[in-house]
Amino acid sequence: MATREICDRIYSVGTIDWDLRYFDAIMPTPRGSSYNAYLVKGSKKTALIDTCKPNDEADFITNLMHLEQHVLDYIVVDHAEQDHSGLLPLLLEVYPCAKIVTNEICKDLLLAMHHLEEAEERFITIGDKETLSLGDKTLKFHLTPWVHWPDTMFTEVVEDRILFTTDFLGTHYAAPALYQDDENPDYLEAAKRYYAAIMMPFQSSVQKHLELIDEIGPKIIGPSHGPLLKMPAKIFDLYRDWSDDNPKNLVIVAYVSMHGSTELMTKFLVDELVQREVPVQQYNLLETDTGVLGSAIVDAATIIVATPTILFGPHPVAVNAAYLIRALRPKVKHLGVIGSYGWGTNAVNYLGEVLAPLGAEMLDSVYIKGHPDDEAIKALHAMADAIEQRHKML
Ligand SMILES: Cc1cc2nc3c(=O)[nH]c(=O)nc-3n(C[C@H](O)[C@H](O)[C@H](O)COP(=O)(O)O)c2cc1C
Ligand SMILES: [Fe+2]
Ligand SMILES: [Fe+2]
Repeated sequence: MATREICDRIYSVGTIDWDLRYFDAIMPTPRGSSYNAYLVKGSKKTALIDTCKPNDEADFITNLMHLEQHVLDYIVVDHAEQDHSGLLPLLLEVYPCAKIVTNEICKDLLLAMHHLEEAEERFITIGDKETLSLGDKTLKFHLTPWVHWPDTMFTEVVEDRILFTTDFLGTHYAAPALYQDDENPDYLEAAKRYYAAIMMPFQSSVQKHLELIDEIGPKIIGPSHGPLLKMPAKIFDLYRDWSDDNPKNLVIVAYVSMHGSTELMTKFLVDELVQREVPVQQYNLLETDTGVLGSAIVDAATIIVATPTILFGPHPVAVNAAYLIRALRPKVKHLGVIGSYGWGTNAVNYLGEVLAPLGAEMLDSVYIKGHPDDEAIKALHAMADAIEQRHKML
């Protein structure tokens, strides 16, 4: 990625990965990503904000050399995860006089991840709201634990009203432009996928971080992935909406079926909800990637997992989906399990236990032998009634 000037002597120097198709080995990234890093040149000192992932060293060093950055005073690390700190060991060699500026928790993680014990005296540990002068530019650090890791912090360039927010407000979205058209549906889809997989498990922290940004009042936000944001940005309203406590009138039915019984039950339940004008989305888990499922559950008030029994328990893809739903901690209020078995099953109990930590109400399950009969249809009808009733009270 070419270096770009954001404003006077502040540059974007990170790398772009157009071909990335999976992030953290969990989330498909159909639009690639970028690993943003920023160079801030003050009248007296220069600081690099973050590095990037280890494999991008040629591009990254080329970017710094483009700017004739032969000496560096500080490397600020806002987050120890390897996609941003991966080149730190190399940069410490390239810039032997550079100090590492970070918080105590991030320092410990960096020491552990990169075995930097020999460089320990090069750390400058900062606390919340501390500042570091670069001459005519001042860096101010805001400790923001749980932008998905305990170590994360924001770095503000006070005079320029730029705030670097590490993974917060990022997107896995490779794009040539420094900023992104807020209304671009591809970008918004990528932003929701990213929110679901990375930020949703820390919903209450998200709200605190939004408040902090309001207080700071930056003009520009530089996240660690994807486009920068010019304030006011639409993504802010979306984050407020996604992270509030009120789910929407939406049911997600995620199903798998081997011989069609569970599929028929799914179709019947979904049709019943459609009849009742309850918004519903149906996903075949064999063909639904974790990014799509994650995005779908952000707003849902009810999630139903539908699975047959295989080897006495739920189908493995249903287990995987239930585990993902539990891990991502959506604001869901009602959960249910439906499906079919032959002779003996622990599927409902098993999924009930997986989903219990979400604290949502468990609807009466509909778990039947073989092909759905009249009684099963009646039970699904009752489940649709129960969902409709609850959704009216949202
Ligand atoms: C590989 C395999 C393993 C199964 N294991 C069990 C089992 O352990 N207990 C059980 O009650 N039924 C078991 N069944 C039967 C299915 O749960 C039953 O046929 C069910 O109706 C299938 O639902 P479906 O049509 O939605 O795939 C098994 C079926 C298959 C194909
Ligand atoms: Fe991260
Ligand atoms: Fe990241």
